[in-house]
Amino acid sequence: MIRDLIIRNRSYRRFEKSKQINEQTLRQLVDLARLSASAANLQPLRYILSCRKETNDLIFPHLAWAGYLKDWPGPGEGERPAAYIIILGDTQISKSFGQDCGIAAQSILLGATERGLGGCMVGSIQRDALRQSLDVPERYEILLAVALGRPKEQVVIDQSHRESDIKYWRDGKDVHHVPKLSLDDIIIG
Ligand SMILES: Cc1cc2nc3c(=O)[nH]c(=O)nc-3n(C[C@H](O)[C@H](O)[C@H](O)COP(=O)(O)O)c2cc1C
Repeated sequence: MIRDLIIRNRSYRRFEKSKQINEQTLRQLVDLARLSASAANLQPLRYILSCRKETNDLIFPHLAWAGYLKDWPGPGEGERPAAYIIILGDTQISKSFGQDCGIAAQSILLGATERGLGGCMVGSIQRDALRQSLDVPERYEILLAVALGRPKEQVVIDQSHRESDIKYWRDGKDVHHVPKLSLDDIIIG
């Protein structure tokens, strides 16, 4: 059921080291993005796939993780993503990629979840440095990184009790809690 899949599709930031992801799987995930909605059907998104240690290591240092967890510097060696899909916007096709990019990223993550994988959209990127590292031509805007792997952490949804209660946190057992507002909080008319 789509609701179950969406509930399982949490943002995961720590992954099993032993679980590799091959390029064919990444291609299948991008295929889901390819089949998704696109404003005016312009299809301006392009993708860079990375599932080898050498390219993963070029990407990882330029991403920022879990801003609310001030004492956590991000996944350590041994729990880092097995793969990444970098979503680019081709500025020769369009100048704005906002909704297309989010839809594509969600399609990718739902597909990953269905396969027993998981991941995290990362928008906090040192874009100039990543461009240099991956040699991304100027015509492509770097929009979002989708980190992927087999999750090695438990993430649960909590009921948020007020609109200011939105910061995710980790409890003493290292479970990651994500407060979500209630339906009545978000349907205003
Ligand atoms: C557009 C977008 C950008 C995000 N960027 C980051 C990021 O830079 N680093 C990070 O750790 N998480 C990032 N996230 C993940 C959010 O923190 C996460 O969706 C939120 O905490 C809710 O958790 P959930 O996805 O499990 O519902 C991003 C999510 C979205 C939708």
